[in-house]
Amino acid sequence: MAILLGIDLGTSGVKTILLDADSKRLLGSCLVEYPLLTPRPGWTEQEPEAWWSATVASIQGALARAGADSSAIAGIGLSGQMHGSVFLDAAGRVIRPALLWNDQRTGDQCGWITRAVGQTLLREEVCNPILTGFQAPKIVWLRDEEPANFDRVRHVLLPKDYLRYKLTGEFATEVSDAAGTALLNVPGRDWSTKVLDKIGLPAAWFPKVYESPEVSGTVTAEVAELTGLKSGTPVVGGAGDCAAGAVGTGIVRPGLLWASTGTSGVIFASADEPATDPSLRTHTFCHAVPGKWHVMGVMLSAGGSLRWYRDALAGEEKNVAALTGQDPYELITAAAAQAPLGCEGLVFAPYLTGERAPYPDPNARGAFLNLSLRHDKRHMARAVLEGVAMGLRDSVEIMKAGGVPINEVRASGGGARSPLWRQIQADVFGLPITTINIEEGPALGVALLAGVGAGLWDSVESACDAMIETATVTEPIAANVDAYEQVYRELYTEAYPALREGFARAAAVVERLAAR
Ligand code: XUL
Repeated sequence: MAILLGIDLGTSGVKTILLDADSKRLLGSCLVEYPLLTPRPGWTEQEPEAWWSATVASIQGALARAGADSSAIAGIGLSGQMHGSVFLDAAGRVIRPALLWNDQRTGDQCGWITRAVGQTLLREEVCNPILTGFQAPKIVWLRDEEPANFDRVRHVLLPKDYLRYKLTGEFATEVSDAAGTALLNVPGRDWSTKVLDKIGLPAAWFPKVYESPEVSGTVTAEVAELTGLKSGTPVVGGAGDCAAGAVGTGIVRPGLLWASTGTSGVIFASADEPATDPSLRTHTFCHAVPGKWHVMGVMLSAGGSLRWYRDALAGEEKNVAALTGQDPYELITAAAAQAPLGCEGLVFAPYLTGERAPYPDPNARGAFLNLSLRHDKRHMARAVLEGVAMGLRDSVEIMKAGGVPINEVRASGGGARSPLWRQIQADVFGLPITTINIEEGPALGVALLAGVGAGLWDSVESACDAMIETATVTEPIAANVDAYEQVYRELYTEAYPALREGFARAAAVVERLAAR
């Protein structure tokens, strides 16, 4: 029996899974949580040591639950929250808490880097705009704001690569996560010496870059003692959580688009070339498939919008669900199913926590537009499902315009579980929506990469072909596609441009009132 181990270092906790590659069975999994630190508004940090102790506990927990013999583990894959910065000194000690992907403190540094690097290099090598979440502006922030800490830095790692350092003693990363630093030459799949020079950062601080299924090191004897793993078990490059989730969903060839609705929403396509949106609204990163890239549009509140609706407006459904043992989301979507397509003009703008694609606007906020006396909660629930689907369609449209081939959309997360939400997505995109047999996302993706590294499969594509099967297919209904086309073009896409200035004014007023 060949067992593969996948670790996903999330924002709220770390999950370890053990997969039996022969039977395609999940043998055991274990999630261990850690706190999110928010020392100031807009700042998000975590302690790398807390990640590591949670990871040790999560490996131990998964091994115990699976009752697995660790000598049967053929390989380990690492996935994790992207973009964060772990600062280490010459002895490999953590200098300060890591700054995370959703930290917003680096607005000034983004402007400075954009000017220092220049549009040509951004387009040709970075292939992305400089965003507050990315790693590069976090390093420049440390130089600007904490020079004493900056002077001690000798290594900068991405979050999951700190786990690799602890597991194997190696300073290493892989292409998919490194692409989200804004310091990688994305077409060349290695650090950009030009960009590092322009920003003034030493290349020696950055770890060796591997392809995702390549072996980057092996478990040390000390870690084996601590965790129950076997010393010498290979650890492959792995992937950032988006590319890892894509592998775990089988998004490894052109033609298939991934619509993931977690808290955020992601539209993701594999690409044979590093094609970049001319306005840099979507991201172009290296894929976890060697020699391939991916394009990705991220909306910040997808499942998060429905969770907000549940918590803010669906108290009654929550109470009934608690009494009857049902899932509140089932009651919410059952009510939404009673409202007509298009909700008689009611539109939900899903920008509750600002937006990334297609509108990179931290001030954007949610809105219900065109409310009338005829509308009730059934319409509002449906408007949320429709608004999120249309927000995802914005990224689908950018990809279509960029020539990305799309035959089928594979859904995962909350948007995959509800049949109504799947039908709405099929009708809004005008494309079939499929779901798959196993929903283990990034942890499964990197377990498969570990299998490729260990020689169980000869490519990432064949690993996906062996493990992933279609479970459901939802075809678009032609009449609905036509109706949603009108709602999307004439109502939804008009909403943000009409509201944009008001969002900026509201942000200024809120800040002024908060400072009173
Ligand atoms: C991707 C992104 C998030 C983080 C956290 O660009 O910002 O998906 O990786 O999960």
